Amino acid sequence: MRTQVGIVGAGPAGLLLSHLLHLRGIASIVLEARSRDYVEHRIRAGVLEHVVEQLLIETGVGANMQAAGLPHEGIILRFGGRDHRIDFRALTGKHVTVYSQHLLVRDLIAARLAAGGTILFEADAVSLHDIDTAQPRIRYRQAGIEHELICDVIAGCDGFHGISRPAIEPHLRIFERDYPFGWLGILADAPPSSAELVYASHDRGFALLSMRSPTVSRLYLQCAPDEDLDAWSDDRIWAELQTRFSREGGFTLQEGRITQKGITPMRSFVAEPMQHGRLFLAGDSAHIVPPTGAKGLNLAAGDVAVLARAVEAFYRRGQTALLDAYSATCLDRVWKVQRFSWWMTSMLHRFAAHGDFERRVQLAELAYVTSSAAAATSLAENYVGLKLPV
Ligand code: APR
Ligand code: PHB
Repeated sequence: MRTQVGIVGAGPAGLLLSHLLHLRGIASIVLEARSRDYVEHRIRAGVLEHVVEQLLIETGVGANMQAAGLPHEGIILRFGGRDHRIDFRALTGKHVTVYSQHLLVRDLIAARLAAGGTILFEADAVSLHDIDTAQPRIRYRQAGIEHELICDVIAGCDGFHGISRPAIEPHLRIFERDYPFGWLGILADAPPSSAELVYASHDRGFALLSMRSPTVSRLYLQCAPDEDLDAWSDDRIWAELQTRFSREGGFTLQEGRITQKGITPMRSFVAEPMQHGRLFLAGDSAHIVPPTGAKGLNLAAGDVAVLARAVEAFYRRGQTALLDAYSATCLDRVWKVQRFSWWMTSMLHRFAAHGDFERRVQLAELAYVTSSAAAATSLAENYVGLKLPV
């Protein structure tokens, strides 16, 4: 088989890239190891930056998001038993939209298939070949049979545990940080207890109140990185959430049936450069952010917007300048977002190594961010999203 751009991975990065290329008249084939049903039900994050929302609307895949997504014009930082609102609308004129990642994945798959696009599910990319040449190849296995896809360009959109980044490991420099905690996340059949997301910094640890719809809550609490999920009965989870979200004057945390439970490790990771030869890494295959800033999906969208434009220049005008600049263009934004995600994580979590001094400094930082217009604006403009470099 042959195509122009071979895309490994049907997560948000691979699917959106395939869509953006199609709009530019460029053919692609997406290889996905999992089934369609699996990727359409995989629970992940759910906050879209303003710029990403605009990109989806402008490229014709925003209708369901506009109908079912929940626009948020601010967030609440809760500490010392009090609420402090960061008003995105007033500070930046923009908002974010809460829309489940798996619904976006569904929308993108539907758009690609409706346009006659090819996504091969349960097609496991096994190895990449000749990426230093003008005809790189992907070997993949589907239903026990090995196939080969010959392309002009390969996009490695196969997430953190894929095969693309390892294929060029000797050429990469890795920057990483593990955090000494994780997040225990639940989905619950309970109406959100707050209209806006609540980021709570409590002496017992961080907690986050988010949502998926007017009837489904998404809640997280800071836990040990190797926490044993079996040690957390539903009752214990609710009791801990009740404590961490407590507020002066009272706060009612709505409880409900827990329908999903999981532990998310916290990591910051960047591979540089994001390209070698004709292989371009995009999304989680190139970088991971801790979820505190809600940036993973948004970073992936930014990468593929840059890549689609660069691939277009390559085919239309035979120019490789934008492809050559791909990594540097993305990394500028990636590092700014890494900084923001690390900063939010550091400010809001309890660190076992911290003493009373560091805790006081954290609380002073929270008090500063919520009382200075300059500091609040900095948080807000990063949260709603820095502009895309396209
Ligand atoms: N062959 C084919 N597909 C593969 C392979 C392989 N060898 N390895 C992994 N994949 C697939 C995975 O099954 C997954 O569907 O690649 C896809 C990668 O998707 P994501 O992990 O969602 O990564 P990405 O598209 O970069 O999205 C980034 O999604 O998970 C969040 O935190 C992440 O929000 C961020 C965003
Ligand atoms: C989520 O709703 O899953 C979510 C929201 C905000 C975050 C992280 C995750 O910072």
